[in-house]
Amino acid sequence: KPEDLVNGEGAVVNVNGKRAGAYKDEDGVVHIVDTTCTHLGCELEWNSGDCTWDCPCHGSRFSIKGDVIEGPAEKPLKRIDER
Ligand code: FES
Repeated sequence: KPEDLVNGEGAVVNVNGKRAGAYKDEDGVVHIVDTTCTHLGCELEWNSGDCTWDCPCHGSRFSIKGDVIEGPAEKPLKRIDER
């Protein structure tokens, strides 16, 4: 569960039966995004070294809040929750 993460940790989690990406920041706030890449829909993977969501298909990268860091994706990830 997202709440089980320790500060600074990210993981693919299950939120209401859907795959989602959660990251708990240093202040204990959990940022949850839809891990479906906004380019062509591949499932993103957590990159613990850089704290980013990376796409295995064509290399798009997103921040923990879902903003695009690197294309080809142009649209940010859907934000599911922040708590
Ligand atoms: Fe993610 Fe193309 S589907 S970069």
